[in-house]
Amino acid sequence: MDIQKTRLDFPVLKKKWNGKHLVYLDNACMTLKPVQVIEAMDEYYNEYPVCGGRSLHRMSRRVDEKVTEAREKFKNFLGAERAEEIIFTRNSTEGLNLVASSLDFKKGDIVLTTDKEHNSNLIPWQVQAHKRGIKHMIVYSNPDNTFNLEAFEDTLDRAKNVRLVSMVHTANLDGYTIPAREIIKTAHDHGALVMLDGAQSAPHKPINVNSLDVDFFVFSVHKMLGPTGMGVLYGKYRLLEEMAPFIVGGDTVSDTTYEAARFLPPPEKFEAGLQNYAGIIGSGAAVDYLSGVALSNIEKHEERLNRIITDGIKDIQGLKIIGPQDPALRSGIISFTVEFPKGGDAHDIAIILDETENIAVRSGAFCVHSWFNYRKCEAAVRASLYLYNTEEEARKFVDALEKAVGLFNP
Ligand code: ALA
Repeated sequence: MDIQKTRLDFPVLKKKWNGKHLVYLDNACMTLKPVQVIEAMDEYYNEYPVCGGRSLHRMSRRVDEKVTEAREKFKNFLGAERAEEIIFTRNSTEGLNLVASSLDFKKGDIVLTTDKEHNSNLIPWQVQAHKRGIKHMIVYSNPDNTFNLEAFEDTLDRAKNVRLVSMVHTANLDGYTIPAREIIKTAHDHGALVMLDGAQSAPHKPINVNSLDVDFFVFSVHKMLGPTGMGVLYGKYRLLEEMAPFIVGGDTVSDTTYEAARFLPPPEKFEAGLQNYAGIIGSGAAVDYLSGVALSNIEKHEERLNRIITDGIKDIQGLKIIGPQDPALRSGIISFTVEFPKGGDAHDIAIILDETENIAVRSGAFCVHSWFNYRKCEAAVRASLYLYNTEEEARKFVDALEKAVGLFNP
């Protein structure tokens, strides 16, 4: 991977703010966009900015071709069997909500999650508990935040009616990746379906839904160089076929009467109304870009940088890294809580890094409030890496953090 060459593709990295280049370490939230993605969307807006799926004029047919191409790219990217298994959504959140609403849960069905789910893989189950009487159960992690396989197997053995295991594949909290293969095999042996929230895994490591045998897999394309507000839900075709529609309306049906509607098969059944065509086309360009780099290279690169940062900050007074201490188990994420004798919190550190050195990180609860509340802890700082970050940036972050922390330590 030629990082310096890669960086040239990202217009924002060429700009200076207050005379300094940006060090962008908020990739778990949203990644930057390469010129190839921007140009693919510009082409749509400049050359065929019209609807797809309906009209028969040539511009509209061009949109259909580009959407079909993009769907095919995601099918190949994920190793899915059929392009019809790819549903375009706005984000991972929408994919998770779609499955929560459309799967035929019955009263008493159990949905099993980890204890560090994003709100998007927590609230839908709380809502379904109210609406349909499902039960949400949690597998608590080991003390170092790694997955407790024994507790998982034990829960499946004891709770007889687990319908769905819905878990974060790589956690946005600490970057830890659960042993998905074992989890899926065990869940299937117990008759449960499995959905993985791949928001932090799909952009960073090779995924093959077919060899994983996962039933549903969701992710956000804006976390993998793509346009904002774009996501994908993968589902096994026979499951998608049986599921109820989610948002209903234009282009989800082949016919309606005043009394009833005849729904189209997936994916149309789940893609109601005019779509984000520019977003879908730009998403296809993001997949092309990542395929050119190879996900396994990205994974190795992030681990290397994570090690530089972890080694640099692990002994700084007042910082505590969340999750396993070995950076090899935390992909491209380094989250830490702060506690200083002279006051100052996670948000202070984030603002100081931004305003003094132009280093963008995230502070807060990262939409995993439940995990923080359970530990009576309010917030953390998170640096999250991607393919364009450099070793020099990793060292710059360590130096800047040391200086920021120095303001609050005696
Ligand atoms: N939940 C996303 C994050 O971790 C937005 O930043």
